[in-house]
Amino acid sequence: ALERTLSIIKPDAVAKNVVGEIYARFEKAGLKIVAAKMKHLSRKEAEGFYAVHKDRPFFNALVEFMISGPVMITALQGENAVLAHRDLMGATNPKEAKPGTIRADFAESIDANAVHGSDAVETAKAEIAYFFAETEIFPR
Ligand code: CMP
Repeated sequence: ALERTLSIIKPDAVAKNVVGEIYARFEKAGLKIVAAKMKHLSRKEAEGFYAVHKDRPFFNALVEFMISGPVMITALQGENAVLAHRDLMGATNPKEAKPGTIRADFAESIDANAVHGSDAVETAKAEIAYFFAETEIFPR
């Protein structure tokens, strides 16, 4: 089915200057950017975005990392976009990510893991709405 997913290029990958290489992978896989912004998240925004993880031991480190520099946020659209994007990212822990995936190629650690992607269609809807107004998603 035609789906949308939320993708965040995290501070480590923005700092490494590999934004274009990562977007090229999305586009080559048939995912189209339908919304985009660069943003330095506030602590509140990062905590709200990752609220589902608030009781996990890694929550504080995750928030600190996500506010350590600017990120690139996009909504991507395509056939089976959620799974397609997850396949491109690879496993959450880059040490477990398959060769050729974004995390295997660009990430250093489970915290600095280059990208975030929605885990399901319903989550994607909520995550896209967290960062984008309907008027910021194209075509309108
Ligand atoms: P992300 O897809 O952005 O969702 C939550 C993030 O928490 C995850 O990627 C990792 O960067 C980070 N994280 C740190 N430790 C863990 C862990 N043990 N399990 C899952 N995610 C973790």
